[in-house]
Amino acid sequence: MKIFYTKAALSKNLKTIKPSKKIGLVPTMGALHKGHLSLIEQSIVDNDHTIVSVFVNPTQFDNVSDLKKYPRTLEEDVNLIKSLNSKVFIFAPEAEDLYGGDVVSRKFNFGAIANEMEGKHRKGHFDGVGTVVSLLLKAVKPTHAYFGEKDFQQLQIVRKLVEIEQIDTTIKGCPIVREQNGIALSSRNKRLTQEQFEAATLISQSLKEAKKLFKTTSINKITNHIKAKFNASSHLELEYFEIANVKTLKTASRKRKGNEYRGFIAAFAGEVRLIDNMALN
Ligand code: PAJ
Repeated sequence: MKIFYTKAALSKNLKTIKPSKKIGLVPTMGALHKGHLSLIEQSIVDNDHTIVSVFVNPTQFDNVSDLKKYPRTLEEDVNLIKSLNSKVFIFAPEAEDLYGGDVVSRKFNFGAIANEMEGKHRKGHFDGVGTVVSLLLKAVKPTHAYFGEKDFQQLQIVRKLVEIEQIDTTIKGCPIVREQNGIALSSRNKRLTQEQFEAATLISQSLKEAKKLFKTTSINKITNHIKAKFNASSHLELEYFEIANVKTLKTASRKRKGNEYRGFIAAFAGEVRLIDNMALN
């Protein structure tokens, strides 16, 4: 396993790979867990070479304290990747090196999908994500890149990004990995107290309940029911619960035949913001 700390060092190594080989990129912000590992394992299966980027991207944080407190655990991340017993390259650049100058977001026109949910609640977030993913895809030039459905809206944004920028990389979406109690694995879970961690099961339980009710109950009724559950919780504050069409990500008011829907939740446990989603039909 090799670690590259600069674009130049990475690029020198990439030049030794034959153009016919398949290269998989797994972009991460580190503090790796089994969710990240599932993406890395998928890339190892699909490709001749896998590169994992570990980079906490400043431009996608709308909250300075969240950026400061984001866990940085490169040594542990390296050991976790080593435990996979496969040849994986790690790319862990400094911000100035990756951005090649000022660490600022570009502005993208992703269309309506960028204005819903995370786009509405985290101003500039997807411009930051688009900027860094574009830089990573251009630095690595992978044939495939792996993203989790845990951040479903981000996955759709990245699909749009490669279309807009005409980047020749196939984007692969991977299923959400959960704790035994249902909570979606997240680097931010490390910041929860035991009490908050247990209370956070309400998020995945609500999504499961929405899925169960989806066939028989109106979207409006399901939404009110889930909101009432969060109102009764003393540990969690709901930011949004939405049932949205997976293509447009617009909040759905009525179910239409042939459309696919997902439930989406963002909630705060103290100052830790958690998100999750689930297919409903
Ligand atoms: P990060 O939160 O580290 O996540 C890296 C990748 O792992 C994302 O594609 C995310 O959806 C996926 N992931 C996280 N938790 C998961 C889980 N429980 N199951 C399956 N996949 C999971 O997302 C980012 O970083 C950044 O925005 C990034 C794309 C790296 C750009 O900076």
